[in-house]
Amino acid sequence: MSEQESLPPQTPYEILGDQGIKALVKAFYEVMDTHPAAKEIRAMHAENLEPVKSKLVSFLVGWMGGPPVYLAVTGTVCLTDPHAAFHIGPRQTEQWLLCMDEALIKVNASQELKEMLKLPMEHIANTVRNQDTSDPAPRDPNLIAVGR
Ligand code: HEM
Repeated sequence: MSEQESLPPQTPYEILGDQGIKALVKAFYEVMDTHPAAKEIRAMHAENLEPVKSKLVSFLVGWMGGPPVYLAVTGTVCLTDPHAAFHIGPRQTEQWLLCMDEALIKVNASQELKEMLKLPMEHIANTVRNQDTSDPAPRDPNLIAVGR
C-alpha cells in the first residue's frame, strides 16, 4: 500500500459521503422538528422542511469538501441573503448548533468527526447570526397611537 493510500480520510465529506450527509441533515431537521429547545427556530422554517433539507444537503456537500453543488445552483455560498429575513441572535444560533450536535449523535458520528466539525460549525453558525440580541426590540405602542 502506498503512503497516499494509507492516509486516513481528510475531509468530513470523505468520511460521510453523500449518503452520510443526507442522513445527517435528515436527523438535523428531525431534531429541529421535535426538540422542545428548538421550537423557536423550527417556527421560523416553512411547514414543509423538504426544500430546505435538500438545500442544506447540497450546501454541506461542498462545505465539507465535496463537489460544490450549492454553488453550482445558486451561484454563491454566501448564506447572508437567505437568512436576512430572520432574526438570528445568540439564542437562535445556540438552538441551531444544538440540533446539529444532536443530529451528529443520532447518526452515530465518530468522536473524530464531531471534533473536526465543532469549531467550523460554530464559526459558520456565527457567520449566519445577524443580530447581537436574541429578542427583537419591542415595538413602541405610542408610535401607533400618534399615527406615525
Ligand atoms: C444560526 C442559526 C440559523 C438559523 C436560525 C437558520 C434558519 C434558517 C431559516 C429560517 C431558513 C429558511 C427555511 C425555509 O424557508 O423553510 C434557512 C435556510 C437555510 N439555511 Fe439556515 N439557519 C441557521 C444557520 C444555518 C447554518 C449554520 C447553515 C449552514 C451550515 C445554514 C444553511 C441554510 C441553507 C443552505 C438554507 C437554504 C438557503 C437557500 O434558500 O438557498 N443555516 N435557515
